[in-house]
Amino acid sequence: MAERAQRVPLQHITGVAHFRYLTLAVGPGVFIPRPETESVVQLVIDHLQGLEHPKVVDLGTGSGAIAASIAHEVPGAEVHAVEFSTFAHAWAAKNLKPLGVKLVQGDLRNALPEHDGTFDVVVSNPPYIPAEAIPNEPEVALHDPPEALYGGGADGMELPTAAAASAARLLKGGGYFVMEHAEVQAGWIAEHLKAAGCWTHVATHLDLNGKERATSAVLAIAASGK
Ligand SMILES: C[S@@+](CC[C@H](N)C(=O)[O-])C[C@H]1O[C@@H](n2cnc3c(N)ncnc32)[C@H](O)[C@@H]1O
Repeated sequence: MAERAQRVPLQHITGVAHFRYLTLAVGPGVFIPRPETESVVQLVIDHLQGLEHPKVVDLGTGSGAIAASIAHEVPGAEVHAVEFSTFAHAWAAKNLKPLGVKLVQGDLRNALPEHDGTFDVVVSNPPYIPAEAIPNEPEVALHDPPEALYGGGADGMELPTAAAASAARLLKGGGYFVMEHAEVQAGWIAEHLKAAGCWTHVATHLDLNGKERATSAVLAIAASGK
């Protein structure tokens, strides 16, 4: 209670975070998974219905919450995960190894080049907070790692933009991309994907609070080399 009164996140005190059907190991150095990301996972699972042995990658996996849930809930899926931070990678390894997820430590901007054009789904909850928008809650500002929060650039859009570019590289034609983002970024991201010329079916999705917190798109068949 004394630690919690000092605004240490509950999940750092208990050492676990509950996410969909899983209990994940978490602590200092890794982003605590959030409830709105559970809705992003649902979009992926809905899309995977009827696909046999789909191949999925989670870019910026953190604790591994997204990748772990897909591996757990979609039997037969081949799930990959990419994480840059050494600390987060260690937490992800703990959570993902038992589920058979293939985890690599690397930069989402250029990771997995040997898998270009082969994924059915690319999913990401990248860092996206603008540099100046320091969160008010001490649990976030002092305990979530900065590299998990700030997306780069004044508008926080550098890493989300890079995740979209990597998705276009990694997906097969007709593959599905889903990304979480801030509510205020929804319009810009949808326009960015439409303007890129390689995406179809660009759609914005609401979280459980009715906020525009995720965008999906389908890679045009002609846009993929494979
Ligand atoms: C907002 S957190 C999301 C973590 C997890 N996917 C989730 O939803 O709970 C973003 C994650 O991306 C990682 N990250 C930041 N820059 C990255 C990069 N260039 N390449 C790969 N991962 C990166 C951070 O370390 C952090 O774990």
